Amino acid sequence: MSSWRDTTCGALTAADVGTRVTVAGWADTRRDHGGLVFVDLRDFSGKVQLVVNPEHAPEPAQVAHDVRNEFVLQAEGEVVKRAPEAVNPNLPTGEIEIQVEALKVLSRSTPLPFQIGDDVDDVLRLKYRWLDMRSERMQRNLRLNHVVIAAIRRAMDDMGFVDVWTPSMTKGTPEGARDFLVPIRLQPGTFYALAQSPQLFKQLCMIGGLDRYYQIATCWRDEDLRADRQFEFRQLDLEMSFVDREDVLDVMEEAVVAAFVGAGREPPPRPFPRLGYAEAMGKYGTDKPDFRYGLEIEDATELTRSSGFGVFANAPTVRYLVAPRPFSRAELGRLEEIAKEWGAKGLAYLVNDGGELRSPIAKFLAEDELRALQPDAGSTALFVADDEAVVARVLGGLRIHLARELDLAETGDELFHWIVDFPLFERDEDTGQWTFLHHPFTAPMPGDEGFEQDPGSALSQHYDLIWNGWELGSGSIRIHDAEMQQAVFRVMGMGEEEQEAKFGFLLDALKMGAPPHGGFAMGIDRFVARMAGEPDLRQVVAFPKIASGSDPLTGGPTPMPDSVLKDLGIRLR
Ligand code: AMO
Ligand code: AMP
Repeated sequence: MSSWRDTTCGALTAADVGTRVTVAGWADTRRDHGGLVFVDLRDFSGKVQLVVNPEHAPEPAQVAHDVRNEFVLQAEGEVVKRAPEAVNPNLPTGEIEIQVEALKVLSRSTPLPFQIGDDVDDVLRLKYRWLDMRSERMQRNLRLNHVVIAAIRRAMDDMGFVDVWTPSMTKGTPEGARDFLVPIRLQPGTFYALAQSPQLFKQLCMIGGLDRYYQIATCWRDEDLRADRQFEFRQLDLEMSFVDREDVLDVMEEAVVAAFVGAGREPPPRPFPRLGYAEAMGKYGTDKPDFRYGLEIEDATELTRSSGFGVFANAPTVRYLVAPRPFSRAELGRLEEIAKEWGAKGLAYLVNDGGELRSPIAKFLAEDELRALQPDAGSTALFVADDEAVVARVLGGLRIHLARELDLAETGDELFHWIVDFPLFERDEDTGQWTFLHHPFTAPMPGDEGFEQDPGSALSQHYDLIWNGWELGSGSIRIHDAEMQQAVFRVMGMGEEEQEAKFGFLLDALKMGAPPHGGFAMGIDRFVARMAGEPDLRQVVAFPKIASGSDPLTGGPTPMPDSVLKDLGIRLR
């Protein structure tokens, strides 16, 4: 292998008994049994037990005596079978050990802030990420990351995609999130933005005749950090010419399956089911439903149109979900608190406690209403009456909350879904202005080209990929016509001048032979986190940031000296 070792720790088995080996790695643990010293030596491949016997090897015994956790050692000796009572069935190398004849300390370690693999605070783990990385968990996750990306690259290559590098420093364009800015010394007072995605460049690649583009693209977004969000993240980003939605979905499914196969996992069944946006919002209250449990939301708007319960009769939308538990008054009180925090005015209920109905609203309901709404014995119907958006938000939130509380998600099911048929526009909550739902380059559904007349009712050719309640990625068929692109900008309230200033280059390109095209971007870090069964991206990214935006390892971000800022033409307020 090299002059330092001729095998790796985890590779040794009973078949190696009798051979002489040299291994190198970290002292995982050391046990001194009054005379015999045992050291578990660890490298990336696993652990092997070293035994140092002072009678056979007095010098190595002296060295071993001074070894502490995480010293880097090189050991030479014979692989021997362990005595039957010493066999460790929990270790792949548990049948053997190395009888050490030579032992060298290659590097020492100061006392550790935590033991490798200990479940300590994330910030501490990140401050000493190089220690944390030695843990089985991080080794597994970072290697899974690699395996997934390698498999995806092979699949994309097989499907004829061309890897094109697009710039990180781009002109700032509104794409949803805030930009990270890069001041340009040569032109003080001007800035590039770090690319939020290669969106426009990949479209330009299609106009440039590349036909099939892909990239494992790093993207930057100045967002609040959450479990599934980092400032920097990677996308499997792709774009294709002369395609319809199904062609793009097909390629993405192929890439997902390739990643599963590459990681040695059973791939999810294809084709992934498709669900319309409106149905998803109605039944699950979200456009990224978790399908591992039922708890589907039911509609009671029509049924309660002329209800004796005024709250229901007067509300634009009345919906409910049935939880498989007869909740107590106290539990219902807590659920109502939560619902109110999310914007509900109340949370009406019908509890069927073994055939006995408990409800403050039952007395207002007519017989036919009760018959339709009364839940089965041992369950509770929870109602929200409000605007459709509030009802969706609250019941969608309760659905997730209850599934977690009642442990309803059958883990292990890998369920991928497409959400399709999104609206083209939505109202901006603050300004009331029409704005794009995904990005302004998304094409309307065939038949909805006249969207300027009634922006709110137009559907788009946008689609999302969902895995067990996580949005993994988004894409769309794009607008390839300058006129239509300008119509979208107009609906968004953008005049000719602003269009020209912000997107003149795109409009120019669309006027010079743009093929029909569409594409997709899947968050790689999210995908790998899900695959690894990890709750957040920090567990699969080598050097992530924490919620405050800091990097505990290097101590960034830091202020810059005045002299540096002056060169950039920047004065701090
Ligand atoms: P979108 O903005 O939906 O689409 O992003 C696609 C996917 O990128 C991942 N993602 C993130 N991952 C980690 N941290 C973040 N802060 C973060 N933000 C997004 C998600 C998301 O689904 N250009 C379009 C795609 C297209 O239309 O082709 C785009 O970027 O998994
Ligand atoms: P009230 O008429 O305010 O005493 O409410 C009677 C029941 O209806 C209580 O359980 C409230 O939580 C519930 N409730 C009130 N407003 C709403 C609403 N908009 N949607 C659902 N339930 C409500």
